[in-house]
Amino acid sequence: MAGLIAVVGSNMVDLVTYLDRMPVAGETLEAPRFEMGHGGKGANQAVAAARLGSDVLMITKVGDDTFGKATLENFKANGIDTRHVGIVEGLSSGVAPIFVEPSGENSILIIKGANNELKPKDVDKAAAELAKADLILMQMEIPVETVYHVIAWAKEAGVRTLLNPAPAVDSLDPERIKDVSFLVPNETELAILSGMKVDSRESTEAAARSLMAKGIGTVIVTMGGKGALLFEADRTLFIEPLKVTPVDTTGAGDAFIGSFAHFLCDGLPVEDALKTAARYAAHSITRRGTQKSYGTLAELQAFLPV
Ligand code: RIB
Ligand code: NA
Repeated sequence: MAGLIAVVGSNMVDLVTYLDRMPVAGETLEAPRFEMGHGGKGANQAVAAARLGSDVLMITKVGDDTFGKATLENFKANGIDTRHVGIVEGLSSGVAPIFVEPSGENSILIIKGANNELKPKDVDKAAAELAKADLILMQMEIPVETVYHVIAWAKEAGVRTLLNPAPAVDSLDPERIKDVSFLVPNETELAILSGMKVDSRESTEAAARSLMAKGIGTVIVTMGGKGALLFEADRTLFIEPLKVTPVDTTGAGDAFIGSFAHFLCDGLPVEDALKTAARYAAHSITRRGTQKSYGTLAELQAFLPV
């Protein structure tokens, strides 16, 4: 019973350079390898859920350039509903130059381009389809007003929402996101949103629960290689990290969220959906690229971490 997942979010073309080290100012440095692929936090989460078998509706904007055309094709190739992918005349598509070091760690620049044009009225146009969603996913690579609009609309419509407040922005008002069902920040984003220090298990819990006191249902804090923490009204649960040798961590957080959405809407309890999502994300970091590294259900089942 795969559910319908809607994503109101970004898309980017990832320009990934694998390098030995970052150049310093004024230096010209040769890097061994370059790869282009599809990315953007919204699109990544959409593709992860779709590859696992969910029906996915994507609400986003591309530019009227070759990247925009390729992005639309990529959504279609992944079986994603593109009826609400808009094309913006005269603007570039979102682009992300990414630098991956031998450790698998990455540094990312984003140029949002057409993503900045995803407005509340675009959400309203998709309202009939959005009302059928089991869960709406959002991130912070689109205008913040659009995110607030979706949250307010979904509350009225009785549709569950998940906000991944990434990348970290200090313009996000905690009062205006209190109606989300799931908030999934990393430690930095949680610290910014709560205005509290996040540097231990106790301080993470205090910060998460301060946001829950405002009304947020569930907070899931992702901690990369350190696992994740689930905070619900009456329990706290630690999700163990999986041990893998990282090749490219780009988009691992999106793999986690997109697959969590899939397994949750497919009927798994939150706890099991999170554990399976952690496996899915771990698998993605053993492979190069962003969406390219996202597995299918069969690949996930065959993946045996050490
Ligand atoms: O979360 C990873 C993503 O961040 C990349 O795909 C890049 O496009 C940026 O949006
Ligand atoms: Na990867």
